[in-house]
Amino acid sequence: MSKQTDIQGTEASSTTGTNQVFRPYERLVDIKVLGKTFQVPEKNTILRCFQYISPETIPYGRFCWNQDCQYCRVVGKLVDDDQPHELLSANFWSAPAWKSLNSAPN
Ligand code: FES
Repeated sequence: MSKQTDIQGTEASSTTGTNQVFRPYERLVDIKVLGKTFQVPEKNTILRCFQYISPETIPYGRFCWNQDCQYCRVVGKLVDDDQPHELLSANFWSAPAWKSLNSAPN
């Protein structure tokens, strides 16, 4: 097994002059979304990880990315949590400790 040592990042062009979509990361971590496990870049917000999983949909969603719209609200549970709790996916970071993420009830 080889150890991954290069820092990775994915870039995409934009009209705003910024082109760094994902924060630099060294490895992928497992998160479980709606019962399915995905590998996503560490050190990125969960919403950004959703974009990593679904690059054709999330960038076109009505997300403000800064806690104003509340559209990114999900229910999540960390490995050590007794109960799931609601959180804003644009405000929490990816980590292997995420046991599950689901849509928040409306
Ligand atoms: S994307 Fe607007 S609050 Fe999360």
